Amino acid sequence: MSDIVIYYFSATGNSLAAARALAERLDAPLPISVPGSLVNDDPYSAITQVKAVGFVFPVQRATIPEMLRGFIKAMPVNRHGYYFALATYSLFGSNVFEDIDELLSAKGAMLNYAASVRMMGNVGVGEPSDATIQRRLSQMDTKLDEVAGAVSYHQENYFPRANKLLGEAVRRFTENRRRTIVFRVDKHCKKCGICVQVCPAQNIRIPKKGSTILAPVRSDKCEACLACVHWCPASAVGTPTRLHTRYHNPMISPQQLNQTVPD
Ligand SMILES: Cc1cc2nc3c(=O)[nH]c(=O)nc-3n(C[C@H](O)[C@H](O)[C@H](O)COP(=O)(O)O)c2cc1C
Ligand code: SF4
Ligand code: SF4
Repeated sequence: MSDIVIYYFSATGNSLAAARALAERLDAPLPISVPGSLVNDDPYSAITQVKAVGFVFPVQRATIPEMLRGFIKAMPVNRHGYYFALATYSLFGSNVFEDIDELLSAKGAMLNYAASVRMMGNVGVGEPSDATIQRRLSQMDTKLDEVAGAVSYHQENYFPRANKLLGEAVRRFTENRRRTIVFRVDKHCKKCGICVQVCPAQNIRIPKKGSTILAPVRSDKCEACLACVHWCPASAVGTPTRLHTRYHNPMISPQQLNQTVPD
């Protein structure tokens, strides 16, 4: 049995690509999807008896994805365990690590080591160019060598504690949008089901009327991660502004994103 378990949350594949590359360097098992775990009977079965637990995730709205927050909050914790975090981001992190440290500290453990790696952006307008993607992937490789070296020796660091008030303000400001975000599906929809597959919240379904397959519809569990927007092969999903970058990590497939059992 390995001593390390790595959990990940990923909307456009960057964090999964980073988690896989890190696991390979650490000779650890394939990383486990947080949304994939949450549909299992025991989401935490992988962490019994391990010494180190890692979290790899995107900075979203200056904090950690809400689904990861809930996952860590309910997670059984080993007071003497080693906990590490790797955030991927495109512009700026904020209090992502402090948030995790607080969740772990409430149970008597702590976040021992944290690092972040700048990746391709998936908010705003304009797709990242191939040159940008190659540059960031190469920077990721260098950073992951450093992270793997530190984690394998259970090193600790004084991770960046950014402005907590700023992070909290952004979180509050955007929380309403997270809950009320509206998506439109246009006539280019091919009803392929990829949006259903990549949604971490199982929030999308494709209804049928008789033998006719209808356009995807959403329920009220949206995490506003924008995975459905980014992975749609027909660019058919958008929000009313329609000003969306469309990007997903070239090394990851939609099938791999939220797997219940990694292959
Ligand atoms: C809804 C949303 C919010 C985001 N918020 C931030 C942010 O506050 N700061 C930042 O640097 N990047 C932000 N990003 C960019 C992602 O952190 C970055 O692209 C990350 O690598 C995506 O990882 P993933 O592909 O694993 O989801 C955001 C992305 C999304 C989709
Ligand atoms: S991914 Fe796009 S094309 Fe496929 S079903 Fe969803 S909206 Fe339609
Ligand atoms: S419906 Fe919401 S939670 Fe699901 S993929 Fe789209 S943005 Fe993410």
